[in-house]
Amino acid sequence: MRLEGKIGIVTAAASGMGRAGALRFAEEGAKVGVVDVDAAGVERVVNQITQAGGEAKGIVADLTKDSESRRMVQETADAFGGLDFVWNHVGHPGPSRVEGVDMADFDLAIILNLRTLVVATDVAIPLIRKRGGGSLLYTASTSGIRGSLKSPIYSMAKFGVIGFAKSLAKRLAPENIRVNAVCPGTTETPMLRAFTARPDQDEMKGKDIDALLQNRGSDVPMRRRAQPEEIANAALFLVSDEASYVTGAALSVDGGTTA
Ligand SMILES: NC(=O)c1ccc[n+]([C@@H]2O[C@H](COP(=O)([O-])OP(=O)(O)OC[C@H]3O[C@@H](n4cnc5c(N)ncnc54)[C@H](O)[C@@H]3O)[C@@H](O)[C@H]2O)c1
Repeated sequence: MRLEGKIGIVTAAASGMGRAGALRFAEEGAKVGVVDVDAAGVERVVNQITQAGGEAKGIVADLTKDSESRRMVQETADAFGGLDFVWNHVGHPGPSRVEGVDMADFDLAIILNLRTLVVATDVAIPLIRKRGGGSLLYTASTSGIRGSLKSPIYSMAKFGVIGFAKSLAKRLAPENIRVNAVCPGTTETPMLRAFTARPDQDEMKGKDIDALLQNRGSDVPMRRRAQPEEIANAALFLVSDEASYVTGAALSVDGGTTA
């Protein structure tokens, strides 16, 4: 098994790619902290893991709060006796508008894409150091690699995620702590609807969101959206020892979108 003996955390693990990652990591032998604000969703994922013979600890946490971002790291390490990796996957689309920007939504995007990641990393580094090394993985996006017409603030945040990952990779490399970003393209999760149906996009007014959603992915070179499991497989590689010489990478998993 590819994560035998490892202890890790996945945030936003009740749904979509995070859920797929938590299940996949557990299947490969990891003990997993399953973190999300959705208590019922956390319970479902933990049950699925334990019924399959894996080990998981459910942690219901609102990662807009620093104290919760700290707690979820410490609770996982306390439950399983250490920490080898964290997949900070939680994020938020933020406002589409720049003129007339909703600053409360802006703050939420910065907190959920960037702030929680820094707070969790602060707690995780000494724990991973104690194990002689490990891995930090952050979720960016294709919007962290190139500009985004409809989501300039999201793009700003995801460029930040990659900048942080690359910088921290240099700093932590001598300690064998690898830091990478995974950059999903259009992926079939509830967040896709949240992006497509944002109320502050004037050009979306009066449009049939379901029809637009149906069409998402048709402009991707592979002519389709990603399934959450396809991103989880890339995450599995990056947090595992198979990626032992990979640090500071921003790995696109996007069907050719940023090629
Ligand atoms: N879906 C896409 O097309 C796409 C593409 C690129 C990047 N991403 C990134 O992927 C991540 C989102 O993952 P997904 O698409 O699998 O989404 P998803 O909609 O399937 O799941 C999001 C999860 O985040 C949880 N969450 C929301 N707010 C939270 C909070 N305050 N505290 C804790 N948990 C919270 C929700 O409860 C939900 O379970 C984000 O970082 C997003 O930017 C998504």
